[in-house]
Amino acid sequence: MSITDHEAPTDRPQHGRAAQRAYLKVKSQNGGMNGPGFTPTQLAARAAYLLRGNDLGTMTSAAPRLYPHMWSWDAAFVSVGLAPLSVERAVVELDTLLSAQWKNGMIPHIVFANGVDGYFPGPARWECRRLAANAPDGPDTSGITQPPVHAIAVQRILDHSRRHGRSTRAAAEEFLDRRWPDLMRWHRWLAHSRDPKQNGRITIYHGWESGMDNSPRWDRAYENVVPGDLPPYQREDTTLVNPEQRPTDREYDRYLWLVEQMRRCGYDDFQEASTLSFAVEDVFVTAIFVLACEVLASIGEDYRLPRADVRELYEWAAYFRAGVIATTDPRSGAARDYDLRLGSWISTDTLAMFSPLLCGGLPRETERNLLRVFEGPRYCGHPDLRYALPPSTSPVSKDFRRTEYWRGPVWPVMSWLFSWVFARRGWAERSFMLRAEGLRQAADGSFAEYYDPFSGAPLGSMQQSWTAASVLDWLG
Ligand code: SER
Repeated sequence: MSITDHEAPTDRPQHGRAAQRAYLKVKSQNGGMNGPGFTPTQLAARAAYLLRGNDLGTMTSAAPRLYPHMWSWDAAFVSVGLAPLSVERAVVELDTLLSAQWKNGMIPHIVFANGVDGYFPGPARWECRRLAANAPDGPDTSGITQPPVHAIAVQRILDHSRRHGRSTRAAAEEFLDRRWPDLMRWHRWLAHSRDPKQNGRITIYHGWESGMDNSPRWDRAYENVVPGDLPPYQREDTTLVNPEQRPTDREYDRYLWLVEQMRRCGYDDFQEASTLSFAVEDVFVTAIFVLACEVLASIGEDYRLPRADVRELYEWAAYFRAGVIATTDPRSGAARDYDLRLGSWISTDTLAMFSPLLCGGLPRETERNLLRVFEGPRYCGHPDLRYALPPSTSPVSKDFRRTEYWRGPVWPVMSWLFSWVFARRGWAERSFMLRAEGLRQAADGSFAEYYDPFSGAPLGSMQQSWTAASVLDWLG
């Protein structure tokens, strides 16, 4: 594989010898795809076996014990992993999720499996069916949303279907025709209801909506969330996973207080915008939305779906991309979130700073600067990293905690997302590097939720579905 000028290694000496050595060391280790541990064939078989084990029938639990239900963005990534195994089963996964779509278009962040206990907050705490006019009549769901990665799953399902015979292709195309209006409603809801200030950025009302629950990104915003009369509750997560690898009780009080505020306003979009004590324009979710709009638009073109829809998707992509770019530092290209309650920018050394790499739109030179940061000693080129993969928070940040959920660990699904996007953007070598390193990290076969960036130790839940799905796609 040739390294194009655009892809030339960007951590040249000005970024430090140690980082460059680390990057080169990683490169030289990458001759084989896998490190010690399982062979790629064994790993793929184990990943497929894991997804089968987590299959509840028409949904795959995000993880067997810690997350025994369906999570929205997990379900999308799981479909990416199911597609090479069975296009039909991948379609069922997205169908289950979309069957729980709210009447206003929102895809809820959790679809609860019938009669399954052991997760808090469960349906009895959310009580969406009783309190929310927009909740679906069917399954129990939570009352918030998650990052809109679903178009990527639809794309992968269609990609795989084309490798099969007529009946599988027909199943995928029938799914697309049937669910296209729902996918449009989903994107329209985000574009219209989640950009209350019309800044071209998606607003979230709970850190859980970012998917990065306790990221340092939200520390300041959560200081503003002061729990009032909070009904008592008992955490389940800390009985299943080492509490040091999970958000703190103090953070949980705030998470639950926001749920309480949402309950009190009936999960109403309009009221949430004015009453919730947490309201943040999430630049990473916005970049994902831009990407998803573009992916969906190109699917719409390929499959001759309504032209007005395709046009709308491209318009949203352009508008929200401008929203992402407006947050960036002119020199480094690093992106920022914006706290609507405090009226202030949130600048962190976290994955969020790389949002423009997902959606494009930076001037070329600035984009190269941002790629240098991604590959340099603040990120994938940090000399102490076990694998050259992006940690959730930079190891040089004062907020970095190597084992604490979104405050430091490497999340394989994030490595997958960046590798997929880099391939899409034409950066084949960068994509290959992340894939090779991601597979080396996965070679122990634990399929952990996240990993210690320095030791490579698996953390959080084991047998996490989306980790297996990422590996399956990489090995596909
Ligand atoms: N990630 C959250 C949890 O840990 C919920 O979305 O339960």
